[in-house]
Amino acid sequence: MFNVETIRKDFPILSREVNGKPLVYFDNAATSQTPQQVIDVIVDYYSNYNANIHRGVHSLSQEATDKYEQARQKIQAHFNAKHAHEIIFTSGTTHGINLVANGFSSLLTKGDEIIVSALEHHSNIVPWQMLCERTGASLKVIPMNQDGELVISEFDALLSEKTKLIFVNHISNALGTINPIEYIIKQAHLVGAAVLIDGAQSTPHIKPDVQALDVDFYVASAHKMCGPTGQGMLYGKEEWLKKLPPYQGGGEMIAEVTFEKTTYADLPHKFEAGTPNICGGIAFGAAVDYMNAIGFDTIASYEQELLEYATEKLQSIEGLTIYGTSKHKTSVISFNLDGIHPYDVGTILDKLGIAVRTGHHCAQPIMDFYSIPGTVRASFAFYNTKAEIDALVEGVKKAKMMLS
Ligand code: ALA
Repeated sequence: MFNVETIRKDFPILSREVNGKPLVYFDNAATSQTPQQVIDVIVDYYSNYNANIHRGVHSLSQEATDKYEQARQKIQAHFNAKHAHEIIFTSGTTHGINLVANGFSSLLTKGDEIIVSALEHHSNIVPWQMLCERTGASLKVIPMNQDGELVISEFDALLSEKTKLIFVNHISNALGTINPIEYIIKQAHLVGAAVLIDGAQSTPHIKPDVQALDVDFYVASAHKMCGPTGQGMLYGKEEWLKKLPPYQGGGEMIAEVTFEKTTYADLPHKFEAGTPNICGGIAFGAAVDYMNAIGFDTIASYEQELLEYATEKLQSIEGLTIYGTSKHKTSVISFNLDGIHPYDVGTILDKLGIAVRTGHHCAQPIMDFYSIPGTVRASFAFYNTKAEIDALVEGVKKAKMMLS
């Protein structure tokens, strides 16, 4: 049985105070907190078997290599990838997106089209704009509606034989909307386009099955799912990863080097130049184990309860507007108080020990759509409680009183 108080004991940071008040951590969409089970793995790595991987015959190197490759297999199993070599370790979601965008430079030409959505994070906009500049391809955008949902009929209208690539996030970081990626992937494949799904905001809440989705690329970050920062993954179908050229040149990604010609290593090493974040990869595996032990169905249903509770309470505050009102959303609430800058609300909440994100959330087109400079964003994880939501609601009321 899920018991939030027991779960909270796994997270040392949750018992600290901020500004003399118990910490209420509602910035989980930016980065999640780390359980002791993952911290222990990090300490164990640096205390007992810190060594470079794939390089040495010595025991420490072998041990580190085995643990790193076991972590890759855990990630493979978690996402249900067909092969472990379809999992590329990256420094995070942004790295994975740039790796694919760079790879497509040699595969696109003038006249080709790329589709993104109006709900994207800047990291799923800018690399594609750069790709368009390099290749002469053009960027098309699936528009959004007032509820913060994609207008799918417009997607259908944009899709054509010219479409080569589609990039959509699974869940919007700014609004929490869950996008209909199953439909998007199916339709994309009918015209022969490849699809990359940005899973940075979905993977903390749900367990994607990349084979069932039939997705071409799926990217995620460890630090949003109880793992360390500086670590992420790119899933790519084997046929695509074989077709794409390497992203960076360096050690570990080669088969043979001479001054005349270099040949590249097999997957996944072709895309993993240089010494990777070894400890980060191993800790990512431990984080996935930790979340799976709780269970993603349990996590999703508890977080949904928190979302409904918080939505109802916040909505009852006069002058508060929630942005992102899709029926299909995860535990993210973006809101503003009439006539009050989100930054000011965030500052008062911080004084009360409540951590939220304020601003445009690296999604300026969404803010432009609503004609606002930004929002206050509270994002909940499975270790948050209704009592913490009550503290947030009281804090928002206090901010309203002080700033009106
Ligand atoms: N992309 C992260 C967020 O939404 C940092 O806060």
